[in-house]
Amino acid sequence: MFAQYSKNAQYSSISDILNPLVDYRLQNTNSSHIPGVVSLQRECFPEPFPIDSLWQATHIENHLQLFPEGQFVVTLNSEVIASCTNMLISLPDWQKHEPWEDATGGLALPNHNPAGTVLYGIDISVHPSHRNQGLAKILYNARFDLVKSLKLTKYGTVCRIPDFHLSKILTITEYVNQVLNQSKTDRTLTPLLRMGLTYTGIIENYMHDEESGNAGVILEWTP
Ligand SMILES: CC(C)(COP(=O)(O)OP(=O)(O)OC[C@H]1O[C@@H](n2cnc3c(N)ncnc32)[C@H](O)[C@@H]1OP(=O)(O)O)[C@@H](O)C(=O)NCCC(=O)NCCS
Repeated sequence: MFAQYSKNAQYSSISDILNPLVDYRLQNTNSSHIPGVVSLQRECFPEPFPIDSLWQATHIENHLQLFPEGQFVVTLNSEVIASCTNMLISLPDWQKHEPWEDATGGLALPNHNPAGTVLYGIDISVHPSHRNQGLAKILYNARFDLVKSLKLTKYGTVCRIPDFHLSKILTITEYVNQVLNQSKTDRTLTPLLRMGLTYTGIIENYMHDEESGNAGVILEWTP
């Protein structure tokens, strides 16, 4: 059980700040959660997102071997309804801002560097039926708490922009600027900006992701 997920308080479960009648629990992922994490990610990244870019059980087993304290789930009555995956990367490697495959080494995350000082957020998934209830925020607080407890330099992630394909007339930079200045809403970048992350740039050709024009938006948080 991962009890501490807020900057200011300790709770036995996140039900304390959501619906007290519902038994939501934030935990470090363990092997019993693996089937739930695999099927949740498939719900959260539907086609045209490439299915061969999604976790299989063996990948998550590897994440748990490499960096167990960096893997989180939220469960409801033992069912996984939200999850996030993280690895460590050195600051110089993070600052190269490479495409996903080069930065991570692939789905098993073999480039996890135990001596790295940047917590690299690889994915976050909240089940469509449980969105807009603050679950992503809970997982982000767990990430930020981990940055602090491991005395890391920063948290960094590269965010999808899945509504970009709906605005074909815009370049990626123009689209991102409109989301940043709130004249457009992106179903992924907008909520991630609400986590208190700072925009630092764009990686063209980050990964095969038709909806996002294959680009990713670099976001950081420094304690
Ligand atoms: C992006 C995602 C993780 C957000 O999860 P969530 O649990 O619904 O987010 P939260 O409820 O914690 O909301 C956080 C903030 O974002 C806002 N928000 C959430 N969804 C939003 C949307 N579609 N459009 C605009 N704002 C949104 C919330 O209102 C909240 O704002 P507040 O801080 O002002 O209260 C979820 O939609 C998801 O799993 N998407 C599919 C997978 C994905 O794209 N992951 C990210 C890969 S980079």
